[in-house]
Amino acid sequence: MTGYIVGALVPIVFTLLLRSSKKVKKRGVPVDVGGEPGYTIRNSRFPSPVETSWEGISTLAELFEQACKQHADKPLLGTRKMILREVEVTEDGRSFEKVHLGDYEWLTYGKTFETVCDFASGLVQLGHKREERVAIFADTREEWFIALQSCFRLNVTVVTIYASLGEEALCHSLNETEVTTVICGNKELKKLVNISGQLDTVTRVICMDDEFASSATSRWTISSFADVKSVGRASPLDADLPLSADVAVIMYTSGSTGLPKGVMMTHGNVLATVSAVMTIVPGLGSKDVYLAYLPLAHILELAAENLIPAVGGIIGYGTPLTLTDTSNKIKRGTKGDATVLSPTVMAAVPAILDRVRDGVRKKVDAKGGLAKKLFDLAYSRRLSAINGSWFGAWGLEKFLWDFLVFKKVRAVLGGRIRFLLSGGAPLSADTQRFINICLGAPIGQGYGLTETCAGATFSEVDDTSIGRVGSPLPCSFVKLVDWPEGGYLISDSPMPRGEIVVGGPSVTLGYFKNEEKTKEVYKVDERGMRWFYTGDVGQFHADGCLEIIDRKKDIVKLQHGEYVSLGKHQSLCRQYYVAC
Ligand SMILES: *[C@@H]1O[C@H](CO)[C@@H](O)[C@H](O)[C@H]1NC(C)=O
Ligand SMILES: *[C@@H]1O[C@H](CO)[C@@H](O)[C@H](O)[C@H]1NC(C)=O
Ligand SMILES: *[C@@H]1O[C@H](CO)[C@@H](O)[C@H](O)[C@H]1NC(C)=O
Ligand SMILES: *[C@@H]1O[C@H](CO)[C@@H](O)[C@H](O)[C@H]1NC(C)=O
Repeated sequence: MTGYIVGALVPIVFTLLLRSSKKVKKRGVPVDVGGEPGYTIRNSRFPSPVETSWEGISTLAELFEQACKQHADKPLLGTRKMILREVEVTEDGRSFEKVHLGDYEWLTYGKTFETVCDFASGLVQLGHKREERVAIFADTREEWFIALQSCFRLNVTVVTIYASLGEEALCHSLNETEVTTVICGNKELKKLVNISGQLDTVTRVICMDDEFASSATSRWTISSFADVKSVGRASPLDADLPLSADVAVIMYTSGSTGLPKGVMMTHGNVLATVSAVMTIVPGLGSKDVYLAYLPLAHILELAAENLIPAVGGIIGYGTPLTLTDTSNKIKRGTKGDATVLSPTVMAAVPAILDRVRDGVRKKVDAKGGLAKKLFDLAYSRRLSAINGSWFGAWGLEKFLWDFLVFKKVRAVLGGRIRFLLSGGAPLSADTQRFINICLGAPIGQGYGLTETCAGATFSEVDDTSIGRVGSPLPCSFVKLVDWPEGGYLISDSPMPRGEIVVGGPSVTLGYFKNEEKTKEVYKVDERGMRWFYTGDVGQFHADGCLEIIDRKKDIVKLQHGEYVSLGKHQSLCRQYYVAC
């Protein structure tokens, strides 16, 4: 309890001290590294890249098992009970599914671990061989997490496929990785049946929903998730734990062009990211409640859901369409996920935060009159007060505005949010300020790629500057190398500029069955560190924070040797954690 409070206060006190000393905080500092010459910055608090934050833990399987033993009787995973599902038809004939969801039903750490072990045994009993790969193809939900942890305990590599990928990409990823077992929801099963003729290696499908179209094909057997669990429970098998260097996940991401590439992530890669993320959320601990709704097929969510158990926290599942009371799929008059769960920590993509902002503005405008005047006054007072730092201007006035005005706004996300993690694309300055003021919570923004297992840079909560992506994460070194053809050099003034190269334990092994492409963008230096060439161009500010200024691939050489940049910033979104 005390540790928790102290943990939360430290950054605040720290910031106040720094503000009063008027010195620019050095968030990143230069470091001497191997490999191609360049200008390299590390996190100012960590001399060498962090591999694990937990003594003796080197895989995600060990991390999870330790957490389950430490917190056996605490709730871990929660899913809302379905009360009613109905289809609403609008006047113009379009139909929408609406749901009425009830309270969360909880699985304790102990029970979750038991289920994970049962499911793992069941998978093997069903005939899945340990050297074969499993694909998980579903929306984010409790069963996804359980299936993932089960595979980790068997040293079975999990192939993840973004649920919105098209049929061709889906076939390609399942074919390329020779997946034999697909674990999916009923919705995804329908997609799979459609392409069954092109899938040669899939021999079994496990459906997470109890009711599924028993669209049996001669190609595969279909079992329910519950059946696999009970088979495993009846005949338990030993775990077959992986090593740090074993591949945990092959993550297929939507490439900008052509077929998706599978990025091979080891347990060590993901663990490094998980360890780094832990350091950026102030005071993360067993009181925290995390609302999980972003796609688990993306590294940001995957890392978050592996981190929360490690700190003894709680994961409640939701969906982007049922997040708030006014979300599209929520039946009028019933409650959204955030209202029921009251999370303390959330990850979000800017599109979702923009929607929250617009929703609040619309509500305030609709009220009009005194309510709107009061909101506008409170907002502008807070805006000038936090100018410089969101920690700024505590005191009576803030308390008053929070009580009179912002308390109601905070209720939209359950009223307890204390930290928001934003990735996927740059957040607009307007939304950032709006969320800071209305939710009273800091937002941490990250820059990273699937290839670097998310890890690259992170803007600290007391950094209110706009347009930068922060200093290197504790697990990463970030190097700029000359790109003379594009006109970017590390000798440029006032700031060194160049292609962004990321090094450290979170840099993944490469692309599955694509050595040529891997060799092109991954390099190992003489000191054994792996580096990934991002193709993004950046510059380092004096405080060690990175700003992204261009994209290498967008530059084409014209006939007379001139270079032009195509759509400078349009493609930047792709480079952040989640596709926009
Ligand atoms: C885990 O699986 C991989 C691939 O099948 C294998 O190469 C590796 O040796 C296994 N690790 C252990 C510790 O058995
Ligand atoms: C997958 O493999 C099968 C058989 O080899 C082939 O017919 C099919 O076209 C492949 N699909 C893709 C998308 O590669
Ligand atoms: C199945 O394929 C057909 C034709 O290719 C398409 O119209 C339909 O939407 C597909 N169904 C699913 C569930 O993807
Ligand atoms: C914030 O502070 C800067 C100078 O530090 C000033 O130029 C700007 O006008 C201020 N903005 C607001 C909204 O007070």
